[in-house]
Amino acid sequence: MSDNSFKLVLAVETSCDDTSVALVKADGYVVSVLSANQDLEHKDFGGVVPEIAGRNHSLNLLPLMDKLLKSTDTQWEDIDGLAVTNRPGLVGSLLVGLVSIKTIAIAKQLPFVGVNHLEAHLLAPFLKDESYEPPQDFQYPYVALAVSGGHTQLYVVESFGRYKILGKTLDDAAGEAFDKFGKLLGLGFPGGIKVDQHAKEGDVKKYNFPRSLIREDNYNFSFSGLKASAQRLIKKIGQDEKRQFIHSLCASYQEAIVDVLLFKLKKACEELNIPRAVVTGGVSANSRLRARAKIWQEESGVQVVIPPIRYCTDNAAMVGYVGIERLNRGEVSPQDLKPMPRLDESEFLA
Ligand code: KG4
Ligand code: ZN
Repeated sequence: MSDNSFKLVLAVETSCDDTSVALVKADGYVVSVLSANQDLEHKDFGGVVPEIAGRNHSLNLLPLMDKLLKSTDTQWEDIDGLAVTNRPGLVGSLLVGLVSIKTIAIAKQLPFVGVNHLEAHLLAPFLKDESYEPPQDFQYPYVALAVSGGHTQLYVVESFGRYKILGKTLDDAAGEAFDKFGKLLGLGFPGGIKVDQHAKEGDVKKYNFPRSLIREDNYNFSFSGLKASAQRLIKKIGQDEKRQFIHSLCASYQEAIVDVLLFKLKKACEELNIPRAVVTGGVSANSRLRARAKIWQEESGVQVVIPPIRYCTDNAAMVGYVGIERLNRGEVSPQDLKPMPRLDESEFLA
């Protein structure tokens, strides 16, 4: 039962390499969200280094929280509860957020709730602020594609707390496929945005990359074959062609990823007869994916909602929304709540 006594929560997200804090109201209104990005710290390693991520969270989190409260003129007495991502993620990163929130819970006598990061991504379209709100007629159920550096999964979101996993990647996540390709081309880390930028001037048909599992009658994904095929191609064409056709390499590779993502999303909407789709997670920042999703919406009449990029990449606002909903349903976590690095899929078998 929802009693709506929680009007404002303070939320924390530290599951991977972004430190983020937010103040969120019960209707999903984001009073403010502040994040500290660690891309520069991990750049030289070509990927997220767990120890560095945890250390930076411990340095960034409390100053960020202090700034959030001061910049919004919020007093501790204004806050009714706390929310924190406790699963899944890098354990050392999760621990920083979780221990901090547990400490605040004791010190300020506030209830807290641990939030599933994936659930937070799935419900991100319900967030709103001064410059964004979901379409008025947007509602459950919808098919959601969660695509980021760590996950690529397809769900049916039936209602709050009722999620069915339809399919997932059998190997690399889509963001990982983008990042590894960026690394292969020497574009730096994270590669996704760089590949996106280069692709804008390229020819999507110049190179033919595999669309794995596209013909299989399931909702799973696989990107390791794509990565291997890119490695072989780049070795074969050599440095000169690579340099000359870098834009088309990016465009063709990106097209292969976008093709499979949209194919499986469309398949789910059609086969389950659900006329609403959501794309969320860091990869939904991809300009080609956004553009083609829009064309699909216009052609098919399926409502496609892609939240603004600030709510698609890892952020505490989405954690706050799930947290306040759960607190208002009477859910409070105990002080011995653990960080759980792996996704427990039984949570998504409603
Ligand atoms: O959700 P997110 O911020 O963190 C994770 O939970 O992983 O997603 C980060 C991922 C990275 O792999 C990054 O390269 C990818 O999202 N990404 C993009 C773009 N912007 C970020 N991939 C393709 N095109 C983009 N524009
Ligand atoms: Zn994420």
